[in-house]
Amino acid sequence: MYNGGKIIAGLVVFLAIFLFPFYYNFGKANAKPEPKLNTPVIQQLAEKKCVESKDFMRQEHMQLLNDWRDSVVRDGNRIYVNAEGKKFTMSLQNTCLNCHSNKKEFCDSCHNYMAVKPYCFSCHIQPKEDKS
Ligand code: HEC
Ligand code: HEC
Ligand code: HEC
Repeated sequence: MYNGGKIIAGLVVFLAIFLFPFYYNFGKANAKPEPKLNTPVIQQLAEKKCVESKDFMRQEHMQLLNDWRDSVVRDGNRIYVNAEGKKFTMSLQNTCLNCHSNKKEFCDSCHNYMAVKPYCFSCHIQPKEDKS
């Protein structure tokens, strides 16, 4: 005769161990990144706006950075005029990371989630994590 209680207990233990990787990662792997905007410089802004619209930045910031680099390095032009006619100095360190001084909580929170590793910061200086 078999012992129902033991079999069920065994099954529970088996499932608990077997499923551990799934529920252990639940909420971690699925936690959408929430890039934080609470830096001192952004808090001081009258208008909480990026260089371009949020949607544009989300989708195109890599391309924008490439264009900025090409413009500075190839053409010696450091002034970017955005869609609204506002001017920005084209600089990763001095412009993007002046506002987004929390690189870890901002840039990296998305990049880690998407497993992208921009190689820029082997040359460009990262900000000291500066948050309020
Ligand atoms: C091998 C070193 C190196 C790497 C890696 C690198 N850069 Fe640069 N970058 C430079 C140098 C040198 C300049 C010229 C600096 C200047 O003239 O102000 C520059 C200029 C720039 C500029 C315009 C000036 C400024 O102050 O930001 C941008 C924007 C830029 N790079 C973006 C990037 C991005 C984005 C990446 C990663 C995808 C990257 N760079 C990777 C060396 C590098
Ligand atoms: C003047 C300050 C300022 C500068 C300079 C700036 N940002 Fe932003 N950025 C912001 C603000 C504020 C927002 C939020 C915009 C909104 O909610 O409409 C933002 C949003 C973004 C987003 C979208 C975040 C999200 O949650 O979807 C990205 C990506 C981004 N910025 C990247 C950059 C890059 C790359 C640069 C340099 C090319 C840059 N920013 C320069 C202030 C700035
Ligand atoms: C809202 C999420 C988000 C934020 C915030 C964000 N990025 Fe990105 N970034 C991405 C994604 C997603 C990719 C990959 C896009 C692709 O491969 O098409 C990417 C790619 C890049 C690349 C190109 C890397 C490569 O290897 O092709 C650079 C450079 C970059 N991001 C710089 C920045 C900087 C600098 C900041 C902070 C100022 C920033 N990003 C903030 C989501 C984000």
